[in-house]
Amino acid sequence: MVPEKDALPQDPLDFFHKWYNEAQKSEPNDPDAMALATASKAGMPRVRMVLLKQADERGFKFHSNEQSFKGLHLAENPQAALCFHWKSLRRQICVEGIVEKAPDEETDEYFATRPYDRRIGAWASQQSRPLENRSILDQKLDEYVKKYPESGSVPRPPYWTGYILKPRTIEFWWSHPDRLHDRFQYRKTGTGLWVIQRLYP
Ligand SMILES: Cc1cc2nc3c(=O)[nH]c(=O)nc-3n(C[C@H](O)[C@H](O)[C@H](O)COP(=O)(O)O)c2cc1C
Repeated sequence: MVPEKDALPQDPLDFFHKWYNEAQKSEPNDPDAMALATASKAGMPRVRMVLLKQADERGFKFHSNEQSFKGLHLAENPQAALCFHWKSLRRQICVEGIVEKAPDEETDEYFATRPYDRRIGAWASQQSRPLENRSILDQKLDEYVKKYPESGSVPRPPYWTGYILKPRTIEFWWSHPDRLHDRFQYRKTGTGLWVIQRLYP
């Protein structure tokens, strides 16, 4: 029995968490992986995978390097889109919205919980910039291990940032064997309430 929109959760975040919890059990790895699409100011798009760190009433949070291609895009054009695809469940969730930076204190707090090698790696990697060979990266790693030994604290690199995509639309898609799939789009209204619209597959 296929539900109609009245039977769906009124809050898309509840719906998201229901599917996300199921994906944690069903996916062999990375149920938190999502494609992130950004675009330059001129409209040239780029898409890559990132990991979801939190989904709450503010939006969908991920971490990255502000100086990466995506960071440069987001600085000049904060509009972005996300797409989760949980293969084993044959489900997809697409999100569109505006990206803001997470509060610095919150990102500091999270960064401090990361394993040592990841904190050092964040210093050593100049994400998205040209790298002549692997040994240069290894050298940088060694330099930062000396600078910030494991016994002490590793500060968060100023460019290592939390981003929150604040959704304007969230679309839930699930597969039917006949290819006539179900799609429901939640759209946030000016009052903050969500309206639900079924879409043709
Ligand atoms: C499953 C998966 C998860 C990833 N998670 C992240 C992430 O959370 N943050 C990040 O900066 N890059 C992550 N990456 C690497 C990005 O896909 C990408 O290579 C990197 O961020 C540089 O992208 P850019 O040059 O478009 O900015 C992940 C890659 C994969 C395959």
